[in-house]
Amino acid sequence: SKAHFGLVGLGVMGENLVLNAERNGFSSVVYNRTYSKTESFLLGRGLGKSISGAKDLKELVNKLERPRRILMMVKAGPATDAVISQISPYLEEGDLLIDGGNALFSDTERRVEELESKSFGYIGMGVSGGAKGALEGPSMMPGGTKSSYESVEQLLTKMAAQVDDGPCVSYIGPGGSGHFVKTVHNGIEYGIEQILAESYDLMKRMCGMTGDQMADVFAYWNSTEELSSYLVEITETCLRTKDSVDGTDLVEKIMDKAGQKGTGLWTVISALELGASVPTIYASLNARVMSSLKSQRVYASTLLKEPLIGSYELGTPSDGMSPIMDAVVLSTIASYAQGMEIMRIASHEYNYDLHMPSIAQIWKGGCIIRSRLLVHIQNAFQKDPQLKNLLLDSWFLNQVDKRIAGLAKVVSYASQAGIPVPCFSSTLDYINSYRTSRLPQNLVQAMRDCFGSHTYERTDKEGFFHTEWLN
Ligand code: 6PG
Repeated sequence: SKAHFGLVGLGVMGENLVLNAERNGFSSVVYNRTYSKTESFLLGRGLGKSISGAKDLKELVNKLERPRRILMMVKAGPATDAVISQISPYLEEGDLLIDGGNALFSDTERRVEELESKSFGYIGMGVSGGAKGALEGPSMMPGGTKSSYESVEQLLTKMAAQVDDGPCVSYIGPGGSGHFVKTVHNGIEYGIEQILAESYDLMKRMCGMTGDQMADVFAYWNSTEELSSYLVEITETCLRTKDSVDGTDLVEKIMDKAGQKGTGLWTVISALELGASVPTIYASLNARVMSSLKSQRVYASTLLKEPLIGSYELGTPSDGMSPIMDAVVLSTIASYAQGMEIMRIASHEYNYDLHMPSIAQIWKGGCIIRSRLLVHIQNAFQKDPQLKNLLLDSWFLNQVDKRIAGLAKVVSYASQAGIPVPCFSSTLDYINSYRTSRLPQNLVQAMRDCFGSHTYERTDKEGFFHTEWLN
């Protein structure tokens, strides 16, 4: 009999997703560009399961029941286009391709149109959770036409992580919206990773703490309502891990250069295009760029002298390094708030009609940015689906009230000590700007009108005005 589900691309994510589907009762056929990989999978982790292999795409298609459902887990970009053009000749009306990679959402937009014009279905689906999530239950963000989604709803619902109010998958919207939302998820992920790295740097350099002492603080943070999250949890693990050779903290042996595969950059590009203000997320992207300039930084450190690091009162481990915790909480909130802001504008501009409470809901489990804060984010958008900024919701307002002084203290001490805290300081400026009813852009407008007759609006009269400033 024919199989329920096909997979193209036996990378780590592909292998785990197909094992997940099979465990949930969907017999599968797998194809990989190099057949030896397929063979070793079938004789290894795939052994004894309802999973068979295909030597080519034609065989994969022939082994599947109709309408066919085929998940592609291949590299984003040209590799995805290559699979689509190689498999398309064998597909029949109603068959559905799902791209589960981190595709650029505008590529997905184009592919949905192309495939649907041939009467095939196409879903661009963000998948988050890493290898373990893929196997045990990821968070999934599928976008495309609603009817395409409905034909895989049962499969995805079973495969997804489950939280108290349901599975971590829901229809996102048309076109490339699923990949767009996954991109923004990753922008928030970049933000939180950098925020946690900044807190580590302060505890290490300003408070002289060891890996284990810092790990204890992260463990404490992970027990709180505000910071309980997957990324805080794995930071504790990373800081506790020792080098197997000499037993010292392993993180200290890791080169301080962070790579990136594109999604953080795409988030920032989209934000700039849409006019969304995302300074915390941007700061995390720039921090990776700066980190990659290692040899320049090493040279500059011999010339550009840093101020002497004095001793600063940044809390104690028993109070969770209170001001640092304030900085981490508010910056994490700012990352989510900025991500939600990009989606709010995109929802309108790209006609995605995104449902914010559902997005918060499917991020509560399975994905890399899962956290207890998402419960409050979901509540905030359930209370007010038109909410302009997360910071305006009462629970978050209260956090800002309680913690802004701590954040300001951390940023000011870090600047005095010459330690960079790009996400913390961007967050402080973000909040300070957002709560300022009159910013100094009146003067910017005056300059623009002075040198270029760009005109300006006035606070006391309607219309656009020009002044001959230089007369
Ligand atoms: C996830 C992750 C994952 C992603 C990297 C991207 O949600 O499971 O986002 O999809 O590939 O984490 O990050 P880099 O650009 O840092 O490699």
